[in-house]
Amino acid sequence: MAEIRNIVILTGAGISAESGIDTFRAEGGLWEQHRVEDVATPEGFARDPDLVLRFYDMRREAIQTKQPNPAHDALARLDEHWEGNLLIVTQNVDDLHERAGAKRVLHMHGTHLNAWCTACDVKNPWTGTLADRPPCPDCGQSALRPDVVWFGEMPYEMERIYAALRTADLFVSIGTSGAVYPAAGFVRDARSLGAHTLELNLDRSQGSGWFDESRQGRASELVPEWVDTLLDS
Ligand code: APR
Repeated sequence: MAEIRNIVILTGAGISAESGIDTFRAEGGLWEQHRVEDVATPEGFARDPDLVLRFYDMRREAIQTKQPNPAHDALARLDEHWEGNLLIVTQNVDDLHERAGAKRVLHMHGTHLNAWCTACDVKNPWTGTLADRPPCPDCGQSALRPDVVWFGEMPYEMERIYAALRTADLFVSIGTSGAVYPAAGFVRDARSLGAHTLELNLDRSQGSGWFDESRQGRASELVPEWVDTLLDS
């Protein structure tokens, strides 16, 4: 493998699973308990805003009780010590990467801990509830929604992600099923642009075949192992 300087890491729900946050597509996962169309689309929100706001209130409350696990800690350690470029692109809407201490994190699917005012378009940090229709701190209107990207909406900061992928020497995907685009396509983009590609996931994902290398196991074990090897090399 050529010398590695620029790294892009994609994380998904699997990296937070051992912190006690449900993944989406596992048996008993969130999308078995709730219909995606009801709680994760703009149309579902227009149809039944109370249901959607209550669903995200519960999740926002729950994630605040969870703690980062050794996989988040290892990525934070990598972020602290890696002198080349590094971008941790997460599909997760929890803040466990940041709470572990990582700084170079991009939330392509938004974050539970922001409220977005659909009247004035301002986003504010938010830890409380939204179902009770609190006023926007900026414009005062009761028009807040969770700042999460729903199906049919555009993920955030795609230009910054593709710019990082274009110069990546190494692309690593951790704990994601490879079921949702555009994130699921990053491995092919990175590979065609010359990066070595590595997957760390509990089992083989839908995209495993696209990676140069795929390792199966728990994120809390695989990620610290991989980070230690990289920092020692
Ligand atoms: N360690 C490593 N991987 C794990 C672990 C673990 N402890 N537990 C589960 N996984 C793996 C699963 O095997 C699965 O492949 O994590 C993956 C989680 O997949 P999904 O539930 O589909 O989550 P994700 O890929 O993040 O979903 C993408 O879909 O609905 C949307 O917007 C939501 O961002 C989310 C997107």
